[in-house]
Amino acid sequence: MNRSGSPRPPAARINPSVLNCDFMRIGEELDRIADADRAHIDVMDGHFVPNISFGASMVEQMARRSPVPLDAHLMIEDADREALAYAEAGAESVTFHLEAAAAPVRLARELRRAGVQVGVALRPATPVEPLLDILGEFDMVLVMTVEPGFGGQSFLPEMLPKVRRTRAAISAANLQLSVQVDGGINRESIELAAEAGADVFVAGSAIYRADDAAAEIRRLRELADAHLDLCGGAAHA
Ligand code: DX5
Ligand code: ZN
Repeated sequence: MNRSGSPRPPAARINPSVLNCDFMRIGEELDRIADADRAHIDVMDGHFVPNISFGASMVEQMARRSPVPLDAHLMIEDADREALAYAEAGAESVTFHLEAAAAPVRLARELRRAGVQVGVALRPATPVEPLLDILGEFDMVLVMTVEPGFGGQSFLPEMLPKVRRTRAAISAANLQLSVQVDGGINRESIELAAEAGADVFVAGSAIYRADDAAAEIRRLRELADAHLDLCGGAAHA
């Protein structure tokens, strides 16, 4: 609620990815994004994606140190067995990949019982349609806008129709899920993703390569807010 007592209009959220920051100085790197909504934490196991980043014990330390809550993005092969550890590590939201979960409904329910918000992520070649009957199990759909695995890649505009279909399905079902985009988000692509129906934006290199990370977060948030369309593609029909 704002000061006049009326509900705030929907707002874009900016979650910087710490994947390419200086891990020897992770505390200070987290302080640089104190104005963000959440810190996006990319967990990579060297199987689901070629890279290895860090595991639950590191996430637990970051959760204690971070000025903002953590948004854990699990790029791990065995989500059914391992996702819960990230809820217990103190992340505020935990997102697993649909491709990596044998029982996504059961896993989503376990995570909700553990008290976290639950996201489900889709690689570029995975359609959203298999999720449509189970959308109510999740708080967020993450539409990957690059192939997961590395920071600093170029945004795939081919993913915009999937963002639109996801937002339209959420609206049609009268649900309140967020749509997150991750990969290659910068001042140009954020406008396109917001127009398509995304409302949570992960940006790694755009924020951590900026001289003033706080100013870049503000700029990205303004651009996204100006283009936000949560009406399920009504403007595009
Ligand atoms: C890619 C990761 C992203 C990545 C974003 O697999 O999920 O979160 O770090 O970095 P940029 O914004 O540089 O594409
Ligand atoms: Zn990510």
